Amino acid sequence: MPTYAITGATGQFGRLAVAELLRRGTAPADVVALVRDPAKAADLSASGVDVREADYDRPETLEPALKGVDALLFVSGNSVGARVPQHTAVVDAAKAAGVGRIVYTSVLRAASSDLPVAPDHVATEGLLAASGIPTTVLRNGWYTENYFGLLSQAEATGSIASATRGAAVSPATRADLAAAAAAALLDESTAGRTYELAGPSFTLTELAAAFSEVLGREVVHHEVSVEELTAGLQAAGLDAGTAGFYAAVDVATAGGALEGSTADLEELLGRPATPLTDALRAARV
Ligand SMILES: NC(=O)c1ccc[n+]([C@@H]2O[C@H](COP(=O)([O-])OP(=O)(O)OC[C@H]3O[C@@H](n4cnc5c(N)ncnc54)[C@H](OP(=O)(O)O)[C@@H]3O)[C@@H](O)[C@H]2O)c1
Repeated sequence: MPTYAITGATGQFGRLAVAELLRRGTAPADVVALVRDPAKAADLSASGVDVREADYDRPETLEPALKGVDALLFVSGNSVGARVPQHTAVVDAAKAAGVGRIVYTSVLRAASSDLPVAPDHVATEGLLAASGIPTTVLRNGWYTENYFGLLSQAEATGSIASATRGAAVSPATRADLAAAAAAALLDESTAGRTYELAGPSFTLTELAAAFSEVLGREVVHHEVSVEELTAGLQAAGLDAGTAGFYAAVDVATAGGALEGSTADLEELLGRPATPLTDALRAARV
């Protein structure tokens, strides 16, 4: 049986992907969980998964951890701006270790995206293409979970604000995107393809309506300027850098960066993506 490895296996996405591989019948002994801190992976070890230390910032850990791996789910790191050297180390190690195939988690329409997270992904897609290792690129849309903070805000105040200028977003749940990633990892025929993975589309006004339905109280969406949004986020306690990041996401959203309309996610899942209200209801239990 092939050996499948997952980086970031103690992260939220990585854990879901490992669980999905096992749910699909992969033997735990054929799954390698690559983790920065093995102490966080005691539960994975206990389930029979092969846990190995692999720290993007310590390249010497990577090649030994990737030995014997046939297919690697390379989950992008979470240090935006620091990822190019980290990801370079992973791709170099994969090549040196003889990894047969890589599935990489990128971002929706990376090549033309204005999202602040996109440049690292574009660079990584380039590294993978240059490596010669057969690669499946999963351009993940925004997580539906990214809107759960607004759900709490809506519950408390009855209103949400954005500077998205009526643009639609097409997020998908982490679980759906992780299930799609596991499916791609198990299916070598996905190599060479780039998937644009988007879920159901809605505007922020439609999101407020979904909040109203789930919360049982009226929730209104206010369109604000980027400056007003940034000031509001800072007033709520965010530092200037974080507030600026979220404002930049709204600017990119207004330009359509988070809207997607392909059936790629459904194709990999073999079923429709989770509906928004189902995801919101699950978040409240
Ligand atoms: N589509 C979206 O909306 C969205 C949103 C946020 C992030 N993302 C991207 O998707 C990825 C997965 O999302 P997530 O929700 O699972 O994020 P997460 O819970 O923050 O998990 C990130 C994983 O990366 C690991 N990691 C960080 N630095 C590392 C290093 N130096 N060496 C090895 N591993 C390292 C973390 O290890 P530890 O477990 O030790 O912390 C963790 O397992 C993120 O890393 C980011 O690239 C996408």
